[in-house]
Amino acid sequence: MKNILIGVSGGIAAYKVANIISKLKKKGYNIKVIMTENATKIITPLTLETLSRNRVYVDMWDKNPHFEVEHISLADWADVILIAPATYNIVGKVANGIADDMLTTVISACKKPVYFALAMNVNMYENPILKENIKKLKEYGYRFIEADEGFLACNISAKGRLKDEDEIVDILEHDNLYRNNILAKKRLLITAGRTEEAIDPVRYLSNRSSGQMGYALAKSAIKLGADVILISGPTNLKKPLGVSEFIQVKTAQEMYDECMKRFPNIDIVIACAAVADYKPKYYSNEKIKKKEGELMIILDRNPDILLEMGKRKKEQILIGFAAETENLLDNAIVKLKRKNLDMIIANNAENMQKNTNEIFIIKADGLIKEVPEKSKEELAYDILINI
Ligand code: C5P
Repeated sequence: MKNILIGVSGGIAAYKVANIISKLKKKGYNIKVIMTENATKIITPLTLETLSRNRVYVDMWDKNPHFEVEHISLADWADVILIAPATYNIVGKVANGIADDMLTTVISACKKPVYFALAMNVNMYENPILKENIKKLKEYGYRFIEADEGFLACNISAKGRLKDEDEIVDILEHDNLYRNNILAKKRLLITAGRTEEAIDPVRYLSNRSSGQMGYALAKSAIKLGADVILISGPTNLKKPLGVSEFIQVKTAQEMYDECMKRFPNIDIVIACAAVADYKPKYYSNEKIKKKEGELMIILDRNPDILLEMGKRKKEQILIGFAAETENLLDNAIVKLKRKNLDMIIANNAENMQKNTNEIFIIKADGLIKEVPEKSKEELAYDILINI
């Protein structure tokens, strides 16, 4: 998503679109704006022209210096259209096939995703005609950003307020980044879950890792176009749809062997598994019987998969995780250097079993980005687009 076409219709919230344009511009998107005639009574085209650094379109019949069929070239140029605010009127027009101005004509000629960020008086918002129009448009693939509840221009607090500008930008980015295929043709190896190190036929040493983060990374990477090999320790999760290889292992040694076999042909490794650092030195073929007094289990070191990859790496990008209970950033940076990584994700070990997490993305060049608490699916996304 590079080119965003913003359609502004004539609701009081039109003044807020200046903020949306400014936020999107700061993020590096190209913006063009079409306003309805009514919207120009609320905010001037000059404001939006200055913020978008492009000419604002209002009138279909303006002199066209390029001799292009302008409504078609704008529809082609856009990767996505955002109508903010979207009034009762514009939803009604598009739902009924009316194209009587520049904005509705461009929408009707556009095959890209179109978002309506709704904003209007609560009675209009609750009008069943609007609901029917939205239902119809949704069936044709149009997307809607619901209004929030809040103080409305008509002096009451109710549903109808344009969604917060930051949230609109987030929704647009989150939905549409997937279209970028930024990981197309990349071969990714992801390790996930815990390992189990057997003591005897019924007992093992392990940890609390659920595998959710690694599986979320695999799913998101597939959506971004990557070819994903998932090497997983035991979890309760289902094989993600679309992985090109799904290898289930139990022990750290098995995970090590499977990783090393594939490592030379991989572009990016994300080591998300909580690999046991130690394993029992002696495996008892029989179940260990209980006796009086203490029982000693001698532990041996497991191979460090990521450390070994760091030694062998040529062109590969290596990403590790640091789950810590103290000195989060310092410990993560030490690990990043010791294991020769390109990036490390630092997080609090207590979040291992939760559905959400908050992380720091730390890169080898010193860049540190804090990502506040989000679902692991959303975090997967943040991690992948930062590679
Ligand atoms: O040094 P520490 O084990 O805390 O480092 C964590 C990172 O190293 C994680 O990315 C984990 O997947 C990886 N790791 C590994 N092999 C091990 C232990 C950890 O690949 N034996």
